[in-house]
Amino acid sequence: MAFTFFFRDQTPLEHAVNFMIKAASGRSKISIWDAGCAMGQEPYTLAILLAETMNYFALNNIKIYATDYDEPLLKILKEGCYPWDELQRIPANLFEKYFQPDAQKGYFRLTDKIRNLVEPQHHNLLSLLPIKDGLSLIVCKNVLLHFNQAERIAVIRMFHKALETGGIFVTEHTQKMPEEISHLFEQLVSDGQVFRKVEA
Ligand SMILES: C[S@@+](CC[C@H](N)C(=O)[O-])C[C@H]1O[C@@H](n2cnc3c(N)ncnc32)[C@H](O)[C@@H]1O
Repeated sequence: MAFTFFFRDQTPLEHAVNFMIKAASGRSKISIWDAGCAMGQEPYTLAILLAETMNYFALNNIKIYATDYDEPLLKILKEGCYPWDELQRIPANLFEKYFQPDAQKGYFRLTDKIRNLVEPQHHNLLSLLPIKDGLSLIVCKNVLLHFNQAERIAVIRMFHKALETGGIFVTEHTQKMPEEISHLFEQLVSDGQVFRKVEA
Protein backbone atom coordinates (compact mmCIF):
# COMPACT_ATOMS: atom_id res chain seq x y z
CA MET A 1 0.00 0.00 0.00
CA ALA A 2 2.97 2.35 0.53
CA PHE A 3 4.58 1.71 -2.85
CA THR A 4 6.34 4.89 -3.99
CA PHE A 5 9.62 6.10 -5.48
CA PHE A 6 11.60 9.29 -6.10
CA PHE A 7 10.61 11.27 -9.20
CA ARG A 8 7.41 9.27 -9.69
CA ASP A 9 5.08 11.24 -12.01
CA GLN A 10 7.67 13.93 -12.52
CA THR A 11 5.77 15.75 -15.30
CA PRO A 12 2.53 16.49 -13.38
CA LEU A 13 4.58 17.44 -10.31
CA GLU A 14 6.59 19.89 -12.42
CA HIS A 15 3.38 21.34 -13.88
CA ALA A 16 1.93 21.73 -10.38
CA VAL A 17 5.06 23.43 -9.04
CA ASN A 18 5.18 25.86 -11.98
CA PHE A 19 1.49 26.80 -11.70
CA MET A 20 1.81 27.18 -7.94
CA ILE A 21 4.86 29.44 -8.15
CA LYS A 22 3.01 31.75 -10.56
CA ALA A 23 -0.14 31.83 -8.41
CA ALA A 24 1.69 32.32 -5.11
CA SER A 25 4.26 34.88 -6.26
CA GLY A 26 4.54 37.77 -3.82
CA ARG A 27 3.29 35.73 -0.83
CA SER A 28 5.47 35.84 2.26
CA LYS A 29 4.68 32.21 3.21
CA ILE A 30 3.81 29.30 0.95
CA SER A 31 2.31 26.13 2.44
CA ILE A 32 2.14 22.85 0.54
CA TRP A 33 0.43 19.65 1.68
CA ASP A 34 1.59 16.24 0.47
CA ALA A 35 -1.24 13.99 1.70
CA GLY A 36 -0.42 10.26 1.83
CA CYS A 37 3.33 10.80 1.54
CA ALA A 38 4.45 7.26 2.52
CA MET A 39 8.21 7.18 3.31
CA GLY A 40 8.89 10.67 1.95
CA GLN A 41 10.04 10.06 -1.63
CA GLU A 42 7.27 12.26 -3.06
CA PRO A 43 7.57 15.31 -0.75
CA TYR A 44 11.36 15.21 -1.10
CA THR A 45 10.99 15.07 -4.90
CA LEU A 46 8.77 18.15 -4.63
CA ALA A 47 11.35 19.85 -2.42
CA ILE A 48 14.09 19.15 -4.98
CA LEU A 49 11.92 20.46 -7.84
CA LEU A 50 11.23 23.62 -5.83
CA ALA A 51 14.91 24.05 -4.95
CA GLU A 52 15.73 23.79 -8.65
CA THR A 53 13.11 26.39 -9.59
CA MET A 54 13.16 29.00 -6.83
CA ASN A 55 15.88 31.25 -5.50
CA TYR A 56 17.31 30.83 -2.00
CA PHE A 57 15.16 33.54 -0.37
CA ALA A 58 11.89 32.35 -1.94
CA LEU A 59 12.69 28.79 -0.88
CA ASN A 60 13.02 29.91 2.75
CA ASN A 61 9.34 30.85 2.72
CA ILE A 62 8.17 27.37 1.74
CA LYS A 63 6.96 24.55 3.99
CA ILE A 64 5.85 21.15 2.70
CA TYR A 65 3.61 19.41 5.25
CA ALA A 66 3.99 15.69 4.54
CA THR A 67 1.28 13.57 6.13
CA ASP A 68 0.36 9.91 6.37
CA TYR A 69 -1.70 7.81 8.77
CA ASP A 70 1.05 5.21 9.02
CA GLU A 71 3.48 6.36 11.76
CA PRO A 72 6.40 3.98 10.95
CA LEU A 73 6.53 5.42 7.40
CA LEU A 74 6.90 8.93 8.82
CA LYS A 75 9.91 7.79 10.88
CA ILE A 76 11.70 6.87 7.63
CA LEU A 77 10.72 10.23 6.16
CA LYS A 78 12.12 12.08 9.21
CA GLU A 79 15.48 10.34 8.75
CA GLY A 80 15.61 11.34 5.07
CA CYS A 81 18.08 8.50 4.44
CA TYR A 82 17.55 5.87 1.71
CA PRO A 83 19.43 2.88 0.26
CA TRP A 84 21.21 3.40 -3.05
CA ASP A 85 18.99 0.95 -4.98
CA GLU A 86 15.98 3.23 -4.27
CA LEU A 87 17.74 6.30 -5.63
CA GLN A 88 18.70 5.21 -9.11
CA ARG A 89 15.82 6.95 -10.90
CA ILE A 90 16.98 10.36 -9.67
CA PRO A 91 18.69 12.37 -12.43
CA ALA A 92 22.46 12.08 -11.79
CA ASN A 93 23.04 15.84 -11.46
CA LEU A 94 20.29 16.16 -8.84
CA PHE A 95 21.50 13.11 -6.93
CA GLU A 96 24.99 14.64 -6.74
CA LYS A 97 23.58 17.96 -5.59
CA TYR A 98 21.05 16.88 -2.96
CA PHE A 99 22.31 13.57 -1.46
CA GLN A 100 25.33 12.82 0.70
CA PRO A 101 26.76 9.39 1.64
CA ASP A 102 25.57 8.33 5.09
CA ALA A 103 27.64 6.64 7.80
CA GLN A 104 25.49 3.54 7.14
CA LYS A 105 27.13 1.84 4.16
CA GLY A 106 25.08 1.95 0.94
CA TYR A 107 22.72 4.67 2.25
CA PHE A 108 22.48 8.31 1.21
CA ARG A 109 20.95 11.21 3.16
CA LEU A 110 19.21 14.23 1.71
CA THR A 111 20.95 17.53 2.41
CA ASP A 112 19.67 19.65 5.32
CA LYS A 113 18.41 22.24 2.83
CA ILE A 114 15.96 19.70 1.37
CA ARG A 115 15.06 17.93 4.64
CA ASN A 116 14.29 21.25 6.33
CA LEU A 117 11.65 22.07 3.73
CA VAL A 118 9.58 19.02 4.70
CA GLU A 119 7.62 18.71 7.96
CA PRO A 120 6.17 15.26 8.71
CA GLN A 121 2.84 15.06 10.49
CA HIS A 122 0.52 12.18 11.38
CA HIS A 123 -2.90 12.64 9.74
CA ASN A 124 -5.81 10.47 8.65
CA LEU A 125 -7.45 11.86 5.52
CA LEU A 126 -10.76 10.24 6.44
CA SER A 127 -10.97 12.53 9.48
CA LEU A 128 -11.88 15.13 6.81
CA LEU A 129 -10.00 17.73 8.84
CA PRO A 130 -7.50 19.83 6.87
CA ILE A 131 -4.04 20.23 8.43
CA LYS A 132 -4.41 23.99 7.85
CA ASP A 133 -6.04 26.37 5.39
CA GLY A 134 -4.58 28.85 2.90
CA LEU A 135 -2.61 26.10 1.17
CA SER A 136 -1.02 26.94 -2.18
CA LEU A 137 -0.64 23.35 -3.40
CA ILE A 138 -2.05 19.96 -2.37
CA VAL A 139 -0.49 16.78 -3.76
CA CYS A 140 -2.50 13.61 -3.13
CA LYS A 141 -1.40 10.83 -5.45
CA ASN A 142 -2.13 7.11 -5.34
CA VAL A 143 -4.15 7.45 -2.14
CA LEU A 144 -7.72 8.31 -3.20
CA LEU A 145 -7.98 5.00 -5.08
CA HIS A 146 -8.09 3.26 -1.69
CA PHE A 147 -11.30 5.09 -0.75
CA ASN A 148 -14.90 4.56 -1.88
CA GLN A 149 -16.51 7.20 -4.10
CA ALA A 150 -18.31 9.01 -1.24
CA GLU A 151 -15.07 9.20 0.78
CA ARG A 152 -13.15 10.40 -2.27
CA ILE A 153 -15.64 13.20 -2.88
CA ALA A 154 -15.60 14.23 0.80
CA VAL A 155 -11.77 14.31 0.87
CA ILE A 156 -11.53 16.37 -2.34
CA ARG A 157 -14.15 18.81 -0.98
CA MET A 158 -12.00 19.17 2.14
CA PHE A 159 -8.96 19.88 -0.09
CA HIS A 160 -10.98 22.51 -1.97
CA LYS A 161 -11.78 24.33 1.30
CA ALA A 162 -8.17 24.13 2.49
CA LEU A 163 -6.72 25.64 -0.70
CA GLU A 164 -6.25 29.37 -1.04
CA THR A 165 -7.95 31.15 -3.94
CA GLY A 166 -6.26 29.91 -7.13
CA GLY A 167 -4.56 27.07 -5.23
CA ILE A 168 -3.42 23.96 -7.11
CA PHE A 169 -4.41 20.32 -6.57
CA VAL A 170 -2.64 17.38 -8.22
CA THR A 171 -3.54 13.71 -8.17
CA GLU A 172 -2.47 10.66 -10.19
CA HIS A 173 -3.19 10.29 -13.90
CA THR A 174 -5.78 7.51 -13.50
CA GLN A 175 -7.80 9.42 -10.87
CA LYS A 176 -10.63 11.27 -12.61
CA MET A 177 -12.34 14.20 -10.89
CA PRO A 178 -15.80 12.97 -9.75
CA GLU A 179 -18.62 14.56 -11.78
CA GLU A 180 -20.41 15.80 -8.61
CA ILE A 181 -17.52 18.15 -7.74
CA SER A 182 -16.02 18.88 -11.15
CA HIS A 183 -17.33 22.48 -10.90
CA LEU A 184 -14.96 23.08 -7.97
CA PHE A 185 -11.81 22.69 -10.08
CA GLU A 186 -10.47 23.70 -13.48
CA GLN A 187 -8.16 21.16 -15.14
CA LEU A 188 -4.96 22.94 -16.22
CA VAL A 189 -3.16 20.46 -18.47
CA SER A 190 -4.19 17.69 -20.83
CA ASP A 191 -1.36 15.34 -19.81
CA GLY A 192 -2.00 15.23 -16.06
CA GLN A 193 -4.56 15.60 -13.30
CA VAL A 194 -3.47 19.09 -12.28
CA PHE A 195 -6.29 21.42 -11.18
CA ARG A 196 -6.82 24.99 -10.04
CA LYS A 197 -9.39 25.75 -7.34
CA VAL A 198 -12.52 27.47 -8.63
CA GLU A 199 -14.43 29.44 -5.96
CA ALA A 200 -17.72 27.65 -5.21
C1 LIG B 1 0.75 4.11 -2.64
S1 LIG B 1 1.25 5.18 -1.35
C2 LIG B 1 1.38 6.71 -2.27
C3 LIG B 1 2.63 7.46 -1.92
C4 LIG B 1 2.86 8.70 -2.80
N1 LIG B 1 1.78 9.65 -2.64
C5 LIG B 1 3.04 8.34 -4.26
O1 LIG B 1 2.14 8.60 -5.06
O2 LIG B 1 4.08 7.78 -4.61
C6 LIG B 1 -0.30 5.44 -0.47
C7 LIG B 1 -0.12 6.07 0.89
O3 LIG B 1 -1.39 6.53 1.37
C8 LIG B 1 -1.44 6.33 2.76
N2 LIG B 1 -2.85 6.34 3.18
C9 LIG B 1 -3.82 5.43 2.87
N3 LIG B 1 -4.97 5.77 3.49
C10 LIG B 1 -4.75 6.93 4.18
C11 LIG B 1 -5.55 7.76 5.00
N4 LIG B 1 -6.83 7.48 5.27
N5 LIG B 1 -4.98 8.86 5.55
C12 LIG B 1 -3.68 9.15 5.30
N6 LIG B 1 -2.86 8.39 4.54
C13 LIG B 1 -3.39 7.28 3.98
C14 LIG B 1 -0.73 4.98 2.95
O4 LIG B 1 -0.27 4.82 4.28
C15 LIG B 1 0.40 5.08 1.94
O5 LIG B 1 1.56 5.60 2.52
